[in-house]
This record gives sequence, structure tokens and C-alpha cells, in this order.
Amino acid sequence: RLARLEIHDQIDSTNTHLMREASAGAPSGAVCLAERQTAGRGRRGRAWISPFGVNLYLSILWRYPLAPAALGGASLAVGAALAEILRTAGVSDLALKWPNDILWQGRKLAGLLLEVAGESQGPSHLVVGVGLNLRMDPTQGNDIDQPWTTLDQALNGKPLSRNRLAARILDDLMAALEQYGSEGLAPFLDRWRQFDTLQGKPVRLLMGERIIEGRHAGIGPDGSLQLDTPDGRRSFQTGEVSLRGS
Ligand code: BTN
Repeated sequence: RLARLEIHDQIDSTNTHLMREASAGAPSGAVCLAERQTAGRGRRGRAWISPFGVNLYLSILWRYPLAPAALGGASLAVGAALAEILRTAGVSDLALKWPNDILWQGRKLAGLLLEVAGESQGPSHLVVGVGLNLRMDPTQGNDIDQPWTTLDQALNGKPLSRNRLAARILDDLMAALEQYGSEGLAPFLDRWRQFDTLQGKPVRLLMGERIIEGRHAGIGPDGSLQLDTPDGRRSFQTGEVSLRGS
């Protein structure tokens, strides 16, 4: 599945790079890794702090014959696959926060940024970006505006090969992207739900200026977030979830 692999000492953003390369005809399965990003990007327009050599920053380009609108669920498929890799690496108590934040003990361990482009009827392409904190120290992560942790902490110092981990991530995420193309989100729903620790809890959903409060009722078949609100059960496609009272 791997079509091409680039490893940079430094780049603006592995996602930005592959989005550019995609327009220039790069093949499905093109991968970009960097030791450092100078303009790493997170979801919702945030910056992703990307110091040299201490984390993983990688992106995968994947092409689909489908319309861009059909790729919304890929974000959960990839989140579930990444959480399973980290569990296999020995991390217990992992949680997925919808749509695909990976948390350990309530702190962010990894984030995914999926960007889609294409013709309205297809074909389209997806760039999946993975930022995984490995052994960034508190000074390096000083500017991060949310509680965060590292794989080193989550494994309590147990040694782990960064190269092997990166290879496993590429293999398994590409398998998930391929399966998503043929079978959609259905095979990933229960895989995602294993890590859904917010189910049943009172949460708040921030959508731009709007705040919706409700009880987390898990994810729907299309990957939407379900909330039980005073107006009944509602589904949401975007927004930022937080636990109420936290
Ligand atoms: C999030 O906000 O949780 C998503 C973070 C995604 C960060 C990764 S690092 C590799 C890739 N390149 C980027 O600029 N962002 C993603």
C-alpha cells in the first residue's frame, strides 16, 4: 500500500505538504514524516507544537473514487485504528474523545487531522495527519493550550522503537483507509466504541459560539456524535466535546 515515503528534518507541515503534493499528482499511499514542523496544524485552526526529534509527525495521502462528502467517517475509522495500535504497544486506559482525540488519563496523547479535497461527485483525496507525543519534555510543550501527555509517560518509561511504531502506524492506518473505501464506517463502529469513555456522561458541545449541553449517547452509524438533550436525542457532525464540570 505504501507508494512513496519522504522523511524531512524539517517541513512546514506534513499535512500541508501532502495536500500540495496531491494537487501535483502524488499517488495514493504517499507518506511524509518530519522530525520537526514549523507550521504544524491541529484541528479547528489550532497550531500543533512540533519540536525536533521527540515526537511523531506523519501524514498519509489516500485517494478514493468517492465524493468528498463520503469521507467524513474516515476520521473515526483512523482514530479507532490508532487507539488499537497504542493499546497493543502497552498503553492501558486509553480514551477516544469524539471525533478522534486520543487521551490518556484525560490528557492528550495524540491528535489526528484529516483534510479532504476533490470533485463534488468524486474522485477525492484525503490527507490523514498523525501527531503523537513520544517524549517531549514540559519545556518543549510549554505553549500547548490543553492538558497533554506523552507515550513515554503512558508506558511508564518502557522502551519502544520509534521506527517500529511509525511502521506499524503506517501499515495499520493504510489498511483502515483501504477498508473504509470498500466497507465504509460500519466495521469500525464497535472498534471505536471500545474507547468511548464519555458514554452516558454529561457533556458540553462547543460549536463556534453555540454551546449544547446533554448526555453523551455515543456515536451513530454515520459517526455523528449523539447527545440526549432536553429536546430529545440529537446528532452532531462537528464540534468540540468536553465533560461538564471539568
Ligand atoms: C488535533 O488538533 O488534535 C490534530 C493534530 C494533528 C497534528 C498532526 S502532526 C502531523 C500532521 N501535520 C500537521 O500539520 N498536523 C498533523
